Amino acid sequence: MRHAPILGTRSLAWPDEAACASFAQALAARPALRDAYLELHGELGAGKTSFVRHLLRALGVQGRIKSPTYAVVEPYLAGDLAISHFDFYRFDDPREWEDAGFRELFAAPGLKLAEWPQKAQAVLPLPDLRLLITVGDDDARQVQVQACTPRGLELLP
Ligand SMILES: Nc1ncnc2c1ncn2[C@@H]1O[C@H](COP(=O)(O)OP(=O)(O)OP(=O)(O)O)[C@@H](O)[C@H]1O
Ligand SMILES: [Mg+2]
Repeated sequence: MRHAPILGTRSLAWPDEAACASFAQALAARPALRDAYLELHGELGAGKTSFVRHLLRALGVQGRIKSPTYAVVEPYLAGDLAISHFDFYRFDDPREWEDAGFRELFAAPGLKLAEWPQKAQAVLPLPDLRLLITVGDDDARQVQVQACTPRGLELLP
């Protein structure tokens, strides 16, 4: 992970997926989320996409929310809020950053969420908030939340 100033951290326990959903609901209610960029870290199956699904549902997104692994990005609209959900797992050509218009998506207003950001570290901006999800027994997850910007600090639980 890139070295960035960490302005604040919180440690959370999600004993089950319902706890992940409640955290997502609380975050969705924060006005500072509208233009935020969130990085989601954690091994395969940690719960990055699950968290994004709960967050998008809480923001009012309807219809199918699929994992963007193959498309790299899935766009959504929640009212007038534009949301881009990225998964950089299969991202290996930095030229795609320009060619696919990802630079413009990041520069535009709206919420940006990225799984596997370490695979596109050279081109991605500094996140407002980072979630580092660690898998425990069964459905339990430990989550470290790191704020890297003043906006991220506003979003800390
Ligand atoms: N506490 C929890 N929080 C989130 N998801 C949980 C939790 N407990 C169990 N799960 C389950 O764990 C799985 C997480 O899968 P998910 O696709 O979200 O992982 P991912 O981190 O996005 O993996 P990938 O790196 O492959 O994209 C889901 O089946 C989800 O229902
Ligand atoms: Mg995923």
